[in-house]
Amino acid sequence: MSHDDYPTDNPAVVTCGLPYANGDLHIGHLRTYVSGDVLARAFGKLDQRTAFVSGSDMHGTPVAVNAEKEGVSPREFALRHHEKYEATFPKFGIEFDNYGHTDDETNTELTREIVRKLDEEGYVYEKEIMVAWDPVEDDPLPDRYVEGTCPYCGAHARGDECDEGCGRHLEPGEIEDPTSTLTGNPAEYRERTHKFFRVSELQEYLKGFIDRLEGTDNAKNQPREWIEGELKDWCITRDMDWGIDYPESSVAPREQRDRDGETVEDSEDLVLYVWVDAPIEYIASTKQYTERVGADIFDWEDVWKDDGEIVHIIGRDIIQHHTVFWPAMLRVAGFNEPRAVMASGFVNLDGEGFSTSRNRAVWADDYLVEGFDPDLLRYYLTTTGGFERDVNFSWNQFQERVNGELVGTVGNFVYRSLLFAARNYDGAPDAEASDEVRHRIESAVDDFAAAINDYSLKRLGDAATALAAFGNEYIQRNEPWKLTDDDPDRAEQVIYDCVQLSKALAVLFAPVLPDAAATLWSQLGEDGSVHDAALDDALAAPRGDFGEPNELFEKIEDERVEELNEKLRERIEAATSDDEEAEDETVNDDFQPVSDDRISFDEFQDLDLRVGRIETAEPIEGADALVRLEVDIGVETRQIVAGLKQLHDVDDLPGTKIVVVVNLEKAELFGVESNGMLLAAGEQADLLTTYGDAEPGTKIQ
Ligand code: MSP
Ligand code: ZN
Repeated sequence: MSHDDYPTDNPAVVTCGLPYANGDLHIGHLRTYVSGDVLARAFGKLDQRTAFVSGSDMHGTPVAVNAEKEGVSPREFALRHHEKYEATFPKFGIEFDNYGHTDDETNTELTREIVRKLDEEGYVYEKEIMVAWDPVEDDPLPDRYVEGTCPYCGAHARGDECDEGCGRHLEPGEIEDPTSTLTGNPAEYRERTHKFFRVSELQEYLKGFIDRLEGTDNAKNQPREWIEGELKDWCITRDMDWGIDYPESSVAPREQRDRDGETVEDSEDLVLYVWVDAPIEYIASTKQYTERVGADIFDWEDVWKDDGEIVHIIGRDIIQHHTVFWPAMLRVAGFNEPRAVMASGFVNLDGEGFSTSRNRAVWADDYLVEGFDPDLLRYYLTTTGGFERDVNFSWNQFQERVNGELVGTVGNFVYRSLLFAARNYDGAPDAEASDEVRHRIESAVDDFAAAINDYSLKRLGDAATALAAFGNEYIQRNEPWKLTDDDPDRAEQVIYDCVQLSKALAVLFAPVLPDAAATLWSQLGEDGSVHDAALDDALAAPRGDFGEPNELFEKIEDERVEELNEKLRERIEAATSDDEEAEDETVNDDFQPVSDDRISFDEFQDLDLRVGRIETAEPIEGADALVRLEVDIGVETRQIVAGLKQLHDVDDLPGTKIVVVVNLEKAELFGVESNGMLLAAGEQADLLTTYGDAEPGTKIQ
């Protein structure tokens, strides 16, 4: 691995977090896969040799639990989902070089090999631990077979993860007050022997690793707490049938006979914990790619064992697995470490997570059934909000981005340019690009390359959109339609510039909008595929003859959005009323009760609340959530620190009017002084603002 700018001399692997083969894909999942695809395509544009891989995560309790509910075998159940995913990705332009699954031979073999190595190196030991057990059914209850209370934060949690509270990975035996999710029985703890991986011995290595790691801030910062705190060893086996056998037990009989001579599964077998074999699929999938195309085209060992740039793209819920357990395994097994982890924020609905089991989601299939171009969703997911920020999916916002930017800016510019060129010159006029346009394209190309090197897919998309906005301004300013008679040379020049800009747009948009870019490329009469063009081709002369173009994007009408909103609202309401009916979910802690204690008007008057306007906003290095703001409060400009990084697009904050408590004691957060506090509502930090146009400094009373 290197820390050189991309493109490097090494091959790269871009991976996406594997989807659990246990339900349908929703557009939250697609954020991971679209982002991976955009980055892999963008690497290609830079001429960075890249393999883009993933696969289905076939093992683990969610699959086993759901298969059991359906009464089919976990393998059959998981394969069905795997095949569905494989067919769905290309419909969104997501084109993996290899898409495998964790239950195939390549991954099974490689997993065994790696675990054997961990064992040989002395990093695995056995320990008796207490694991949850269903006393009535006499079954072990690993991971999601059990739920209870998180020992760290007290939130309701699943056996393997504090999903509603602090987000920690939970080890077997850690959850308190366990109950079985299958039978609802209170679980008891029984003593079992399990295998542990000595992650604790790798503390020094991991500290260094996290310092070297590139990618998004959340992936570099969140794990520090775990790595620098008490780093616990990791239980890598489970009492389950479904999974990859622990290597030693592969020689022991897998089956036994019951009294009637029927073959029964040996329920006492230990299988590897799903999070052991799942990331190994990243390697296995690359290996399968090599097996298909040949090592001269792409050698998986170059990347994974020699020098390669490994970039993992995931959602923020699985940072710990990718920045602690996974690099620890790679290290001991003698593989390369990841160069970067990019962890996206979540896609939510109304500020709440998607829920597969409650059908509270916008499904990938819903989107396709509506007949929308996949590029629109790719654009929305890539450029809405910063990558680390959670976004609330909304059809209104989707419409706004599509109509405003794709139709209004990009499509509009390209259409009017190519139409004019086709009608007047049957294609690109005979001219050279002007210096102004050439420089503008060069700077867009630089922005594009810089965005990749900063792991910012939003900036990558924005660089192209900004170039289209420039194009519109350029054509408007030069009014070629007025020049054709009086100054035909000048008219040719301007239109040539616009064709050149359109060609650059096809190249720059190819990663985010693969279909539209390909259409534009052929509208320009260019040879070959835009997906084989290099970034430099943005500046290569357009020489094509072409006829009249078609519009690249279609406007989304308001009535359409209303219909979509209606459907979504019905679905959310159904999911919510299901919740209300569910008797076991008694706590509704959405709103705290209003306190009976009243304060006097004088006490309220003690609070000095003012209208402020954010002047500048910048993320605080090293802090997950904090942003340093300069806020104009009329009488002066104040520095205020606020936890907005994950919840707002920091670049969008300047210009926002807010409400500030200006007489609060100063505080120091992450070494930065905060002189005041801004007001915001709820978990999503919805910023308070004014309804009218009260100036900064105005007192709130
Ligand atoms: N199987 C594990 C990953 C193993 S990687 C070695 C898993 N599967 S998942 O199906 O739950 O998620 C697949 C990907 O989608 C992950 O990158 C996950 O973070 C992402 N997301 C799942 N739901 C999401 C949202 N609602 N929003 C954004 N990303 C989400 O985790
Ligand atoms: Zn917790």
